[in-house]
Amino acid sequence: MITKCLFPVAGYGTRFLPATKAMPKEMLPILNKPLVQYGVEEAAEAGLSNICFVTGRGKRAIEDHFDISFELEQQISGTGKEKQLEGIRNLIESCSFSYTRQIEMLGLGHAILTGRKIIGDEAFGVILADDLCLVEDEPGVMAQMVKLYQQFRCSIVAIEEVPKDQVHRYGVIDGEVLSGDLIRVTDMVEKPDPADAPSNLAIIGRYVLSPDIFDIIENTEPGRNGEVQITDALMQQARDGCVIAYKFKGQRMDCGSVEGFVDATNYCFERLAKEQS
Ligand code: G1P
Repeated sequence: MITKCLFPVAGYGTRFLPATKAMPKEMLPILNKPLVQYGVEEAAEAGLSNICFVTGRGKRAIEDHFDISFELEQQISGTGKEKQLEGIRNLIESCSFSYTRQIEMLGLGHAILTGRKIIGDEAFGVILADDLCLVEDEPGVMAQMVKLYQQFRCSIVAIEEVPKDQVHRYGVIDGEVLSGDLIRVTDMVEKPDPADAPSNLAIIGRYVLSPDIFDIIENTEPGRNGEVQITDALMQQARDGCVIAYKFKGQRMDCGSVEGFVDATNYCFERLAKEQS
């Protein structure tokens, strides 16, 4: 059983400055809900109700969001506005929240290793909240991946095809096709130059990791951009045939970029308008 989901949220969100100067990028709202809440809802839906944040300086708003706001709730108690807090209240009640701080930003691999004490020796999910994954009429992406973990018992990464000129933004994989949407990974490279990319299959911000990943990260040297990369640690597992890449069902929007953020906003607004009509 997987019950824990790690959210690395210590990053600065430089692509969204100045909006993220004094506010965590994970608190940017798509319509009226912050990105991080979509991520936690996706985790909870997958049965991962122990939410572990690897946080950093300037991210206190995330802790406050997953807590009672006593004055506010007192103020709106008994009014029609109470309804707007129903979703987040239910989420807070159905999950537990733990926080640990990443003191230095040394890469995604390092952020995940920082969560080791909270995760312990068990498999866990990882959600990068600025990749918003929306699915219609299917379980969410994390739920799809947890099911695959139960089948394969090894690390699972979510992938999608991206245009060749964008591979330099992602971890990129190659491997042996097991079925239409599953690949056993044999190669992975962090942010390759398009000319050196093994394919155009990019890892997006959803992982299920087996717990041996922690020892591997500890022994992983800094890679691309001088950072400890989860992609490099996963490549170690892939050498033993223990990483499955999954072309997930659903739509992913890169809300860490202004363009992706606007697309996500439009998409959600249209969906809302459809629901209400
Ligand atoms: C991280 C990972 C990268 C992955 C991406 C998905 O990069 O290092 O392998 O493709 O997330 O969003 P970042 O976007 O943090 O630079």
